[in-house]
Amino acid sequence: MDITSNTKLLGIFGHPVSHSLSPLMQNAAIRECGLDMVYLPFDIEERHIKDAVQAIRALSMVGVNVTIPHKEAVSELVDELSEEASLSCSVNTVVNKGGRLIGYNTDGEGFVRSLKRAGVGIRGRNILILGAGGAAKGIIASLIRMKPSRVVVSNRTVSRAEGLVDMFKARSGTAIEATSLSLETLKKRLKYTDLLINTTPVGMEGRGGLDIPIQELSPGSVVADIVYKPIKTRLLREAEGIGLRTVGGVGMLVEQGALSFELWTGHDAPRDVMERVVIKVLKGHED
Ligand code: ATR
Repeated sequence: MDITSNTKLLGIFGHPVSHSLSPLMQNAAIRECGLDMVYLPFDIEERHIKDAVQAIRALSMVGVNVTIPHKEAVSELVDELSEEASLSCSVNTVVNKGGRLIGYNTDGEGFVRSLKRAGVGIRGRNILILGAGGAAKGIIASLIRMKPSRVVVSNRTVSRAEGLVDMFKARSGTAIEATSLSLETLKKRLKYTDLLINTTPVGMEGRGGLDIPIQELSPGSVVADIVYKPIKTRLLREAEGIGLRTVGGVGMLVEQGALSFELWTGHDAPRDVMERVVIKVLKGHED
């Protein structure tokens, strides 16, 4: 690739950022579309995030992705927020519109689209969400727009689930409630669930797995996990083992990146290319 004075800069701000697959995925998309752009990882310490956001303007960057731990901080540093970013107080994508910085959050919509792409509908579903952190917030915000029947948020710290539920109850007509993550509660709740979504990091490489009594799920249920490393978490393997449909986290990773790419470039994102490079690397790690 030839870098010239016309080459436009994109990037990702995180700390750490070395694990991120976004540079690989976004540069593959840039190449595929023949754009004169480059996407770089920037490891930014928390004390420097304000300067880094200023630098988007100073360097005339097209925009950036934002990842852990800066998503909340950046939501307070940009000039404008999309509805999703404002609802979740969290930004994963910044677009530089002539010096005016617009903060978006494509995580929730990325998740919803990954379900759609896998042929899983949301309308009328009885959903149980494991976890009540930042990821759950973004996902719930996008899910409730699709009119599920009921959303239950099940979290180790119940008060956190209750906080989320109160926030969404005020804004939506969807029945939404909070519960604990105890085995007894889950056993009761899963009987009435047909879409189970793990938004916790449990199941990530080297982090074991939650004990979820998935055999209580009704037949025909779908189990989704936002963890993408490993590609098939213990939860997904167990669900497949009893014949349930599963949706892994790679779909969300690709879709949130594809939506960011489209916001920056106006081009349709080459999702297949993006998915291919990500899966290749993830499989390489697993070998
Ligand atoms: P993120 O932004 O990725 O959602 P987060 O805001 O730190 O990260 O939230 C992590 C979620 O995973 C929380 O719901 C957390 O539960 P608590 O609110 O009780 O902390 C959940 N989580 C993390 N580790 C867990 C574990 N070992 N068992 C159960 N839940 C866990």
